[in-house]
Amino acid sequence: MLTLDESFKLFEEKNRSAESGGGTEKIEKIHKAGRKTARERILLLLDPNTFVEFDKLVTHRCTDFGMGYKKIPGDGMITGYGKIDGRLVFVFAQDFTVFGGTMSRANADKVVKVMDMAMKAGAPVIGLNDSGGARIQEGVESLAGYADIFYRNVMASGVIPQISAIFGPCAGGAVYSPAMTDFILMVKDTSYMFVTGPEVIKTVTHEEVSMNDLGGAVTHNTRSGVAHFAGENDEQVLMMIRELMSFLPLNNMEDPPAQPCTDDVMRQDEKLQTLVPADPNKPYDMKELITMVVDNHNFFEVMPHYAQNILTGFGRLGGRPVGIVANQPAYLAGVLDINSAVKGARFVRFCDCFNIPLITFEDVPGFLPGTTQEYGGIIKHGAKLLYAFCEATVPKITVITRKAYGGAYCVMSSKHIGGDINYAYPTAEIAVMGPEGAVNIIHKGKLTEDKRAEAVEDYRKMFANPYKAAELGYIDEIIYPKQTRMKLIQALELTQNKSKTNPPKKHGNIPL
Ligand code: HXC
Repeated sequence: MLTLDESFKLFEEKNRSAESGGGTEKIEKIHKAGRKTARERILLLLDPNTFVEFDKLVTHRCTDFGMGYKKIPGDGMITGYGKIDGRLVFVFAQDFTVFGGTMSRANADKVVKVMDMAMKAGAPVIGLNDSGGARIQEGVESLAGYADIFYRNVMASGVIPQISAIFGPCAGGAVYSPAMTDFILMVKDTSYMFVTGPEVIKTVTHEEVSMNDLGGAVTHNTRSGVAHFAGENDEQVLMMIRELMSFLPLNNMEDPPAQPCTDDVMRQDEKLQTLVPADPNKPYDMKELITMVVDNHNFFEVMPHYAQNILTGFGRLGGRPVGIVANQPAYLAGVLDINSAVKGARFVRFCDCFNIPLITFEDVPGFLPGTTQEYGGIIKHGAKLLYAFCEATVPKITVITRKAYGGAYCVMSSKHIGGDINYAYPTAEIAVMGPEGAVNIIHKGKLTEDKRAEAVEDYRKMFANPYKAAELGYIDEIIYPKQTRMKLIQALELTQNKSKTNPPKKHGNIPL
């Protein structure tokens, strides 16, 4: 029988062994690369002294390939719960120092346990990923573990927010679970995501590509659109998660967290009056407009580096979180194309899942013409944004700042697809298309150059304004740009208790 002292010592030793992961040498290697260990990441992410760990002493059960002799308590997966700004969250973190953070049956069970608890408690799950994927020695058991997690990712989708941060090389199965969560954050130069790595690619397709070019943070934030945020280092990414969480409810039955508003709700910014140029062909920065309008000028942009012709992100108005979708005339004239439609649609659906009101700022010349877009399926991808806005039942408030042409007018949260309050600036142009294009079609080959210019001017006067739409009640109010903040806050108050549900169904069939 052990004495009390001996039994406490044994307990301490086991704890120490679990906490030292793969050992000093491997931890030093991680630190030398400017990275943090899995445990350090969790402690940086959560409020001080709030982390409670589960299953610290779990080990794998594999005996093949001599694995029976290699057991490390915790098995390279740290799981538990804690708080962010005093609010409950569940976490799991892969420890790259233990078998490369790979997924074993035992550590998959640990993830499954926190996911199930998170669903019961109605609290988000944050995954800190750093893994070589399925643990090869465990074969199908590892794949089964992944599949159990994938299934839970899908069941939890739209019920609790799921956030994935990528800190190291994540390969194979290690990228598919993040892909099914709501947001992916990556660290520049030290994190990678790919289904198959450079070596496999070289063998199969003979392409030579570096890890960074294939699956680095820049690639996934600018080219593939897989990731939503890129940070300079581990700390910055962890702070981004805390900030992101500040806009999100803990589950789909809660409202997003309001904060006391320290900014004047009646604030009118004179600079807004002249931000949208009178010349419809002149660009301006929609981000500037948004930051002037939201509380304390704080706009937390989502996917800032991808499809920059559409802006998505969170802000607060009168203290209440809102999701903002806006065309960006400073980039490709704010046109809608495949990438921007998909980016916008996913964001709209996220906000709708989690009761976050949608504010839409619209200045869009239409869908991008061209064979690249048509062959790429702009019809079905553009339809995703239309579908998402139609389906969303959260308060939807729209401000048309300038162009609202063609199908894009319908798509961008118009009255007809459930916009609750639709504003327009006096500079708004709501029509089937711009004056030049319209005259070229209506009077094709029938006018001299002088007469054509006259017809363009007539069309501009008749249709390139918000008044036709306002006469028909499609616009609720024409407002001065400087009133935007005040009007949006009013509209949010008005729609605060909005109750709308779509017809009962198993689920819709969004054009994928
Ligand atoms: C078991 C693995 C492993 C794996 C890495 N390790 N990947 N062990 N299974 N999948 C181990 C290494 O043997 C090593 O162990 C330690 O982790 C660190 O790996 P290194 O190669 O030394 O590190 P690094 O040079 O940084 O390279 C990391 C890496 C590379 C890029 C992740 O290891 C790699 O390419 N691994 C294979 C990735 C992969 O193809 N995964 C797909 C699995 S299939 P020691 O003991 O030396 O420290 C899959 C399918 C799921 O995931 C499908 C679901 C849909």
